[in-house]
Amino acid sequence: MEPFKIKVVEPLAMLTRAERSAALQAAHYNLFRLRADQVTIDLFTDSGTGAMSAQQWAAVMLGDESYAGARSFFRFEQVVRDLTGHPHVLPTHQGRAAERILFSSLLRQGQVSVSNTHFDTTRANVELAGGQALDLPSPAAAELDSKEPFKGDLDVAALESLLARGVEVGCVIMTVTNNAGGGQPVSMANLRSVREICERHAVPFFLDAARFAENAYLITQREPGYGGHTPRQVAEEMFALADGSVASLKKDGIANIGGFITLRAEELAARCRELLIATEGFPTYGGLAGRDLEALAQGLIEVTDPAYLRHRADTAAWFADGLEAAGLPSVRPAGCHAVYLDARRVLPHIPPALFPAHALACQLYVEGGVRSFEVGTLSFGRTGEDGEEEAAPHELLRLALPRRVYTRSHLEHVIHCAGAVAARAASVRGYRIAEAPRSLRHFTAKLVPA
Ligand code: F0G
Repeated sequence: MEPFKIKVVEPLAMLTRAERSAALQAAHYNLFRLRADQVTIDLFTDSGTGAMSAQQWAAVMLGDESYAGARSFFRFEQVVRDLTGHPHVLPTHQGRAAERILFSSLLRQGQVSVSNTHFDTTRANVELAGGQALDLPSPAAAELDSKEPFKGDLDVAALESLLARGVEVGCVIMTVTNNAGGGQPVSMANLRSVREICERHAVPFFLDAARFAENAYLITQREPGYGGHTPRQVAEEMFALADGSVASLKKDGIANIGGFITLRAEELAARCRELLIATEGFPTYGGLAGRDLEALAQGLIEVTDPAYLRHRADTAAWFADGLEAAGLPSVRPAGCHAVYLDARRVLPHIPPALFPAHALACQLYVEGGVRSFEVGTLSFGRTGEDGEEEAAPHELLRLALPRRVYTRSHLEHVIHCAGAVAARAASVRGYRIAEAPRSLRHFTAKLVPA
């Protein structure tokens, strides 16, 4: 059961099927173009969509909005230092601002950033800084439904061989958990090996710590030797291996906005701080209000509560089982923040060029007002010079779980609707792009049924 009770409620938008069909058509069959009040259950993202606790709302009232030296910053800084062990703490307004500042201060032209998988904004910021982003996911990640516990791992042999060939690696950044790769966790053993290789080659080693607590919890459940550890102890051990981290605190900060950069190296911190002042704000607020810093400090303490994390992981596993029983297989084993449906197996008659995961997303919306996020050819493929679609490696549909927002009965509704779509899968059609920008097309593209 949920280890919390509800103090404040928000009504859900209840539309008829006819209203949803009309809304989808008016949105040019792109769920980004819907108004949120046309959505009943919003599983688009777990980012910035969590519910704050009574303690966090109380902390908001303590926010010190002084421009420099705010009390709220020192509370935030202390909480982050205690967690990470990294002495330099720079607040940012969200994760991608932290990425931009870190990579612009760290990477030289042409240097490679290696990751288990860069999140899309992380990749974009590496490239904007003149670097190249290279993903080296573990080969286990390709087996979507295998029981392998740590599909978020980095391919250590591939990293070794890259360095042996003399490729200039500017940094390694491990995404915990691996969002683009199905929300899969990274093992401590893998983090330790990567740390050791980085140390040998004098390559700085960072965490993209957006979902550090969920990764830590999954280590306590899946990695031999960690069964007796608390998630907090594991999280501290993860950060201890790294030279620094960037994080979107819209996830495991359980607040609606925020991010950070943490660093050990004084000189790099000084360069980042210069850029922070120029583009985010003075180092004691970095693009955030004092009240945000207070809510984040409290959220970062609450997020490693074992009862909360256990509820989250159990809910994701239960949700994946329910969806599977309703005819929708997903990436296994489920992580914490989302279930990723394998649309290729649900809609085998729709080719990647007609966006099967997107077709599934549209049907789920019409069926029950459920919004989800395509992780397939629409978001990660592209139209080639010859007008042909280049397919993404997988056609997944992410059903993200906002923190402390929906109950199991909401998710039962989603399972019920998904089952109804699966039952008529053979009649579901794909979509074509009618109009789209050249980059990041999925945000604004207009589509038509094929
Ligand atoms: N890193 C990871 C692993 C992420 O999942 C995200 C955002 C970011 C960095 C960027 O952080 O949004 O605060 O600037 N992920 C969101 C999602 C958007 O829906 O998964 P941001």
